[in-house]
Amino acid sequence: MIREEIKKLIEKSIKELQKDKKLPKFDIPEIKIEHPEEKVHGDYSTNVAMVIAKLVRKNPIEIAKLINWKLEIGNWKFLNKIEAVEPGFINFFLSNSVLTKELKIILKEKEKYGSSKVGKGKTVIIDYSSPNIAKPFGIGHLRSTIIGQALYNIYKFLGWKCIGDNHLGDWGTQFGKLIVAIKKWRMKDFSVRELENLYVKFHKEAEKNPKLEEEARREFKNLEKGEKTARKTWKKCVEISLKEFDKVYKLIGIKIDYALGESFYQGMFEAVVQETIKKEIALKSQGALVIKYPKDKLPPAMLLKSDGATTYLTRDLATVKYRLKKWKPDLIIYEVGADQKLHLKQLFEAVELLGWAKRTEFFHVAHGLYRTKTGKFSTRKGKTIHLEEVLKEAIEKTREIIEKSETGQELSKEEKEKIAKIVGIGAVKYNDLFQHYSKDIIFDWDKILNLKGNSAPYLQYTFARCQSVLKKAKLETEPEKVEVLTFNKEEKDILREIYKFPEIVKEAADRFSSNLICNFIFDLAQKYNLFYNLHSIIKAQPAELKIFRLTITACVAQVLKNTLNLIGISAPEKM
Ligand code: ARG
Repeated sequence: MIREEIKKLIEKSIKELQKDKKLPKFDIPEIKIEHPEEKVHGDYSTNVAMVIAKLVRKNPIEIAKLINWKLEIGNWKFLNKIEAVEPGFINFFLSNSVLTKELKIILKEKEKYGSSKVGKGKTVIIDYSSPNIAKPFGIGHLRSTIIGQALYNIYKFLGWKCIGDNHLGDWGTQFGKLIVAIKKWRMKDFSVRELENLYVKFHKEAEKNPKLEEEARREFKNLEKGEKTARKTWKKCVEISLKEFDKVYKLIGIKIDYALGESFYQGMFEAVVQETIKKEIALKSQGALVIKYPKDKLPPAMLLKSDGATTYLTRDLATVKYRLKKWKPDLIIYEVGADQKLHLKQLFEAVELLGWAKRTEFFHVAHGLYRTKTGKFSTRKGKTIHLEEVLKEAIEKTREIIEKSETGQELSKEEKEKIAKIVGIGAVKYNDLFQHYSKDIIFDWDKILNLKGNSAPYLQYTFARCQSVLKKAKLETEPEKVEVLTFNKEEKDILREIYKFPEIVKEAADRFSSNLICNFIFDLAQKYNLFYNLHSIIKAQPAELKIFRLTITACVAQVLKNTLNLIGISAPEKM
């Protein structure tokens, strides 16, 4: 990567300056290299001279000039210009040849462009999706599914061993409630909706008759003890739900490696509980078992209720223990809503207190809520927005757009159907991915399906446009034939953007932020469309210019495709 090369050069220059006694001895600080906000300041810029100036108490611009002088002696081919500017930045301008070379690299590496081996030998577990049995697959779980899957793909692209785990909510006191409800009022049909209705009914009735709560607790205890009828009812609930979840996964094209629900860890709760007692992390308190955090750093957290039933936290602790032993991960990512921040803090801190994870990092990707333009998306009291309906609506709306569009007229019925699905689902996914995960998401159909804005359809459209150019030109891309030319502004803008892709992928992983990749690709697509509108490609003369522009087109298409792949969105050839 060019960035790394520049870093090495700077380091080498500083060392040489020290050797020549032009700079005093000091430990070389971390060298930060950024892309300047404005292109007039070059492609890369570093403030290292300012950092050094502080260390040696000298004027920063003098240090910058000194390093600059040393760098310039090297006459590096991949740099067109290096400059030292006030108050002490050093700016780097890439040469046309290195920018063109990147095009060759893209065409050579194809779908691997942007990938790397930095994660080799490392393992990450991604806990995502994780809907609850007997409750509908809500729109909040959709966020977790989409963002979690994107993170999975990104880490994999960087050479990590990835383990996706769907931590299904299939255990807990709510099953006691369901068992009571099913016993009392029976299931009419076997659907998640029916279970949801029963659950709502239970709460209504329990307001009038508090004894029901007690019964439910008893039933959950029976379940934990393995009592037969309780088990049977529970199992039925799980089956009904999984079938429905699978429909959603299929529709949005997602497959998660494991689905080890909370119930999977049943046999392990006891050992975890004993360990917390032995290590004096948990205390008995009014019959319950509670973790008290030193110095009241966090509010106490319950491990066992006074009737001995386990909690969400007990189950999460057992899960951590299992995962550490089985996979020895370097990193565990929890893609879970921001409303569970406290729970996960309590979990991570408990793991710390138990001394389990000396070499494992834990991170909570705490996603925001979905909102409609008018307010909150899901409502309480059983009125949840159903995900399948949202996805069907997306496809339906896209179909309408295709029917009305010019290009749509040339498509067959099957093509239209296929595209409506790819684009509709892609649009919903992208809406989740292009904004920082911590932000609340506004669900606004006009924006989501906007062919001109930062949306999946816009990117897909740009990709289809590139494909159509390439098809018309019947391009056999011959990257070795691409020659360095003097670029026009629009070409240069594309070239000064596209090479950043590998860097951006890495940064997206480091910061758990798919939105970085989305913003990058949107920017690139806009630059390409501008170029496309201003310059002829297929009719460009002379032949070298045509090859060059076709090569740009092929490269933009490739990077678009790689990006869409990473974020789990299909790229249609036609649209
Ligand atoms: N099932 C939970 C919920 O819907 C999410 C589980 C998240 N993962 C975890 N390890 N706690 O609220």
